[in-house]
Amino acid sequence: MQITMVGSGYVGLVSGACLADFGHTVSCIDTDAQKIEALKAGKMPIYEPGLQDLVANNVRQHRLSFSTDLVAAVRGAQAVFIAVGTPSRRGDGHADLTFVYQAARAIAAGLDGFTVVVTKSTVPVGTGDEVERIIRETNPNADFAVVSNPEFLREGAAIDDFKRPDRIVLGVDDKRAEAVMTEIYRPLYLNQAPFVFTSRRTSELTKYAANAFLATKITFINEIADLCEQVGANVQDVARGIGLDKRIGSKFLHAGPGYGGSCFPKDTQALIKTAQDFGAPIRIVETVSAVNDQRKRAMARKVFAALGGSVRGKTIAVLGLTFKPNTDDMRDSPAISIITALQDGGARINAFDPEGMDQARQVLDDLTYFYDPYSCCEKADALVIVTEWDAFRALDLNRIKSLLTAPILVDLRNIYEPDDLARHDFLYAGVGRGSSPVKK
Ligand code: UDX
Repeated sequence: MQITMVGSGYVGLVSGACLADFGHTVSCIDTDAQKIEALKAGKMPIYEPGLQDLVANNVRQHRLSFSTDLVAAVRGAQAVFIAVGTPSRRGDGHADLTFVYQAARAIAAGLDGFTVVVTKSTVPVGTGDEVERIIRETNPNADFAVVSNPEFLREGAAIDDFKRPDRIVLGVDDKRAEAVMTEIYRPLYLNQAPFVFTSRRTSELTKYAANAFLATKITFINEIADLCEQVGANVQDVARGIGLDKRIGSKFLHAGPGYGGSCFPKDTQALIKTAQDFGAPIRIVETVSAVNDQRKRAMARKVFAALGGSVRGKTIAVLGLTFKPNTDDMRDSPAISIITALQDGGARINAFDPEGMDQARQVLDDLTYFYDPYSCCEKADALVIVTEWDAFRALDLNRIKSLLTAPILVDLRNIYEPDDLARHDFLYAGVGRGSSPVKK
């Protein structure tokens, strides 16, 4: 099967490389000529475990190529995926569909023979209808069908998520298109991955509903964590106690500093707007989004409390800047709000992140960067763990204690055990683990 992937960002690049690995011939397109040149030279625009090797292998086997020439790549393709960005529109929170519609117009010009146009970008309900209208208007003779096929992959685990998905959702209103999509995903079908065939609009909404539900689950456990701190309960035990109920499930019940990233904040906003526009507001998601926004900055209060109420003139060592481990992505990372709040309170910030420091430099000012956790802690007055990179899970606590001016650890991901830290004479504050053990 010959496939064109329009957009070589996170979703496009990972999906293109994985589809090539299934044996299809994939051409990844981008309007950014520099990005395409870099990809041709084997340089990835993002950090994602395993991606570089996967791309290199498939390029070597002539199944994967990169180009800026969209029209040429669309000619002869049986399926053209749209995997361009749908950022939040400035001002109103709606998804900005400029890139999707631009792609649709450009694709229309290259269509010859029956082609399936697949929206993989996260797009609001009804976008498939508009893509279809644009293509028909631009090229009235085109023989095509528009399909919705949302992507559920997580950054940091993207390849595995693509190749071993919990399900594949396909919004298809056309029999020929259904046959093409079944053929594209045949390797997953053989792996027994469930396929959900539905209407295009249902498929578009399913993606938003999934992300909004997960964001709600996280926010729920975060608020339970706050309550745990007040009543002297342990949120990790609560999470285990409820998560073993199969109706609830144990995943996405890790309390922390609030969700970030390129999807949850933007997609919840877009769903909220769509629901309001259609007169069916989803108030639970409106609340989730507001609570999460406030939470990120509020996490700085734990640091204030640990230092006796004020951070003025103090140096705080921050480990982990990205919104989660195994990515260099800083988009909507809780670290941004927390660090800004600490700086507003008069603190200086030392920082280290295994992959995110280049991106962090673009969104955070006045940080002193270090290249390992220990030098980051030198002469700092407290250590704050914001992102749970594996490299931070087994720090030499005696060494950290000797480097800090005072043994204070604020662990916003609960990767340490309070008892262990007490044994090492640390003042320790986690999230939702009983009344704060930090001495005031
Ligand atoms: C998410 C969805 O999981 C994925 O299906 C969709 O395609 C894109 O959005 P991603 O943004 O890569 O993926 O990260 P994810 O692992 O879902 O984490 C999102 C945020 O929630 C992170 O900031 C993470 O730290 C936070 N989180 C997650 C928690 O705070 N607690 C949890 O239990 C799980």
